[in-house]
Amino acid sequence: MSFSNEFLWGVATSAFQYEGAYLEDGKGWTVADERCKKKNKIQADSSVASDGYHHLEEDVSLMKELGIKSYRFSISWARLYPDGDGKLNEKGIEYYQKLLVLLNDNHIEPIVTLLHFDIPWKLIEKYEGFVSRKCIDAFERYCRTCFKLFGNRVKYWLTINEQNVMAMMHDMLGLNKEDPKLSEKLVQCNYNMYLASAKAIIACHEMCPQALIGPCVSYPTLYAETCHPDDVALAYDMQDMMAFAPMETYVYGIISPLVMNKWRKENTVPQMFKEDEQILKSGTADYLGVNWYCTQTVGISNSKSGFNIGVELDIKKNPYLEYGHWDWSYDPKALKMALKECYARFKKPIMICENGWSELETVEDGKVHDQKRIDYLHDHIKQMQNAIDEGVDLIGYQHWSFIDILSSSQGFDKRYGLVFVDRDNFNIKNCQRIKKDSFYYYQSVIKNNGLGEINEER
Ligand code: BG6
Repeated sequence: MSFSNEFLWGVATSAFQYEGAYLEDGKGWTVADERCKKKNKIQADSSVASDGYHHLEEDVSLMKELGIKSYRFSISWARLYPDGDGKLNEKGIEYYQKLLVLLNDNHIEPIVTLLHFDIPWKLIEKYEGFVSRKCIDAFERYCRTCFKLFGNRVKYWLTINEQNVMAMMHDMLGLNKEDPKLSEKLVQCNYNMYLASAKAIIACHEMCPQALIGPCVSYPTLYAETCHPDDVALAYDMQDMMAFAPMETYVYGIISPLVMNKWRKENTVPQMFKEDEQILKSGTADYLGVNWYCTQTVGISNSKSGFNIGVELDIKKNPYLEYGHWDWSYDPKALKMALKECYARFKKPIMICENGWSELETVEDGKVHDQKRIDYLHDHIKQMQNAIDEGVDLIGYQHWSFIDILSSSQGFDKRYGLVFVDRDNFNIKNCQRIKKDSFYYYQSVIKNNGLGEINEER
């Protein structure tokens, strides 16, 4: 078995990383804008990003040339509701209508993420964001507006991008690191986002019965540094807490008993109401969106670096793997394992919503020779093919990213695109678009509906 004719070969971006125009046409300030401004003392904030807002027609015609079947993008909540829950911004509606019409005219299926790291800042000021249930109401209202305005053109929706990452990062939620109640607030936000996601799913099923909707989970496969039972247990527990427990909530509509137990032990049980159980149960996913890039190797250590999950651990280098400039591993075989693991556990169709390789890149004679990205694409698509062959219901692949975008925390020079954007961390230049070698490679994959002959040649 291989890729079906309906397989959604696509590309992805997100609003704050691609659009720019961060205060143009009435858009409100967001957590992502604030975070990028603080983080990057360079020009690489979300003010211009890839300048997608001003290159829409050009970019969609590049997508058409690429031959993609689908495009995953996010709607900026604050472009529609600058205050998060106040007045609707007509200019914001116009922008997304225009994009959807262009996609439709070019037979590209939109896959729309409702929230990708950019909570409207006003909601932080008013309610501390998702700490409060008022933010759930605001999110539901915004989602209902999206379904009403754009539902006739969108079949695939995604609720919240990488809630499992947001729940570990105070600044992605607009919280203060020094807050003595930070741990409780992180858990409350996490819980409230589950409810928000479920309410979006319920609304979507009610308002757009033909559509499919799911979450988008970050899922790096974790390896234990050694076969010492402590290292193995650590990798197992982390994988469970970070990826599988969230998937369990989205798919089965329950908070994992293991998570509840952890919250109890750590004294962080969030405020919950009886009716929440029904909301979670009624708002379950139609498919699983998975962002998968690489594997991470973890082990118990004496140092205090790494994730804050209540134990001391280090992210290690795996001696059997190659690493890129930002220390992300190159490990295609693990993708097949990850897809099988996910499918075996949850039995839901899977959409890879992000997968890609970042590099420092330059233009040479008007071209960008990104051979490593071509290899990455080839090797990962091969593993997707193997996973399908072994029975996984994989329905699409959205390459991250279509075009060079602002990295979520490492500036603009960390490039992921199939299309080069002529700007860098320090100089915005003219943002001219240049097709990289990988653009032509992916174009041939799509044309072949898989690796086909390309596979034979290598
Ligand atoms: C995912 C995010 O976690 O990883 C994207 O959904 C992000 O927004 C991508 O860009 C790559 O991470 P980074 O930090 O290199 O941009």
